[in-house]
Amino acid sequence: MRIKNTPEHFGLMTKLFHWLIAMAIIGLIGLGWYMVDLTYYDKWYNKSLAWHKSLGMLVLAAALLKIVWQLYSPIPDTTADLANWERLGANIMHKLLLALMILIPISGYLVSTSDGKAVDIFGWIDVPALVSKNKELRDLAIELHYYMAYATVVLVLGHIAAALKHQFVDKDATLVKMLWR
Ligand code: HEM
Ligand code: HEM
Repeated sequence: MRIKNTPEHFGLMTKLFHWLIAMAIIGLIGLGWYMVDLTYYDKWYNKSLAWHKSLGMLVLAAALLKIVWQLYSPIPDTTADLANWERLGANIMHKLLLALMILIPISGYLVSTSDGKAVDIFGWIDVPALVSKNKELRDLAIELHYYMAYATVVLVLGHIAAALKHQFVDKDATLVKMLWR
């Protein structure tokens, strides 16, 4: 399988980035919802939060690498045969998803660091706080993190519906190309 993208096909790197980030984001949203319902004294509270932060920071790193990779090796245009409004819609949807992959972890990083703490990634690396303790910033970051996660749920549901429409209604190869072709 080719590593780089071609004008016709997604390469291995793009597929790996897409599916690893997709699984991580879906997992992080589930974990996020689960952990905010725990109380501080629950034995899973600290563990689940530590996992959430670590995995979220890895998503940030992966999303940045994915964008750099796509600048070097552009993704194929799978929308050439679609109507103009569909092309525009797909483009905006993908750009928004890319932006959220970066902005959600940054807002999460600000939630944690505006409390005066560095972010520890699985005990391997400490990402230092770039801001000092700041209650207003923390409240704003919590709100942004929350709304952007919900916006992601809506966009991803639309994204999955679009992929299924390609597969079962249009009967084209869009989903198959992102999976293995
Ligand atoms: C793509 C990555 C991420 C996603 C999709 C995500 C998603 C979520 C969700 C859905 C919640 C629950 C929100 C609520 O219902 O109140 C949450 C909470 C939280 N997340 Fe993330 N998160 C991500 C990355 C991060 C990162 C990188 C950090 C920190 C370094 C972080 C720190 C937190 C914290 C501290 C909370 C609890 C906030 C509170 O106390 O209300 N998240 N996240
Ligand atoms: C099970 C869930 C998912 C399915 C079935 C799926 C399917 C697909 C397919 C078929 C494409 C190619 C579309 C085209 O070229 O027009 C695509 C592209 C894309 N998907 Fe997903 N996807 C899923 C989850 C996600 C998630 C969770 C995200 C991020 C939050 C995401 C972000 C993207 C982006 C940004 C693209 C544009 C191409 C790229 O930059 O790699 N997808 N997806």
